[in-house]
Amino acid sequence: MMKTGMKTAAVLLLVVAAINGAIASSIPGADEPHPFEHDSLHGKHFDGGEHNAQFDHEAFLGPDESKKFDSLTPEESKRRLGVIVDRIDEDKDGFITQSELKNWISYTQRRYIDEDVGRVWRQHNPDNNASISWETYRKTVYGFMDDLDQNELEQEENGVSYKSLLKRDRNRWAVADQDLDDNLTREEFTAFLHPEDHPTMKNVVLKETIEDLDKDKDGQISVDEYIGDMYRPSEEDEEEPEWVANEREAFTKHRDLDNDGYLNDEEVKQWISPNDFDHAESEAKHLIFEADVDHDDQLTKDEILDKYDVFVGSQATDFGEALARHDEF
Ligand SMILES: *[C@@H]1O[C@H](CO)[C@@H](O)[C@H](O)[C@H]1NC(C)=O
Ligand SMILES: *[C@@H]1O[C@H](CO)[C@@H](O)[C@H](O)[C@H]1NC(C)=O
Repeated sequence: MMKTGMKTAAVLLLVVAAINGAIASSIPGADEPHPFEHDSLHGKHFDGGEHNAQFDHEAFLGPDESKKFDSLTPEESKRRLGVIVDRIDEDKDGFITQSELKNWISYTQRRYIDEDVGRVWRQHNPDNNASISWETYRKTVYGFMDDLDQNELEQEENGVSYKSLLKRDRNRWAVADQDLDDNLTREEFTAFLHPEDHPTMKNVVLKETIEDLDKDKDGQISVDEYIGDMYRPSEEDEEEPEWVANEREAFTKHRDLDNDGYLNDEEVKQWISPNDFDHAESEAKHLIFEADVDHDDQLTKDEILDKYDVFVGSQATDFGEALARHDEF
């Protein structure tokens, strides 16, 4: 349970991001890249209390590579995984240690962010100028708003309107703009698209998170607002599943540190970015735990290949999904 709590904390932003992504994708003209869709690097590790294997695959391979593996046969998956394992084993001693695995996971995360930013950067900046102006960005992503009336701009879906999305982006842009010229360099643009990894963006991420959760706009998060973000009953009288009850308890015991029934800024901050939490390290520990059959706290290639579906997807589990994706094209 402790573990679920920690993971939940680490991925809260992504849950929020997923909601935003869903809204963003309903925006007309939203084939254009939208920043909120780019936040969801890790997905939800525990979905409704169920362990989500996709989360581990994406942490281990990055989202792009992980999709490629989804359509491979188990044999081909294992072959390619074996090649990767040899790369992870930095000192070539035949054992993957926690630190080697952590380095690998950090590397795939950096690689993904870099590729993702590169894609969006090229879309907004085909001339490859040194920076992108806010006006250029706004026109591409929010230009359609110029044709909407006030009502349409302010109409809310889950408490979010076009107007509020624009305002949030504008604010995030301003925070990412370190040299205050209102243009973003590629480095600043990276902070804008992936604020979760940038120390300078911590406060704006905190503010956005609170805005999302705080439905009654009283400036603090009640237990119902906290739960409402992870779970909505599908029917009026549906009984709450046990994991939701556990989350309520976690709110009281671990999140609401001053026991006043609400989370204030400081408590939300502790929750979403606890000082000592390292995503790559936590994921490395988790993967070793899943595959370390002889309990020596490190993995051999055989241990990894035996549990290959923990590390990578394959036809065995995701074939239907891969087919479905294929049909879309
Ligand atoms: C790139 O810079 C040139 C020269 O300042 C400008 O004319 C052009 O519009 C810029 N491109 C973008 C996408 O802003
Ligand atoms: C900001 O970007 C615009 C469009 O690319 C460019 O014309 C302008 O010179 C840039 N300003 C600065 C200060 O770099």
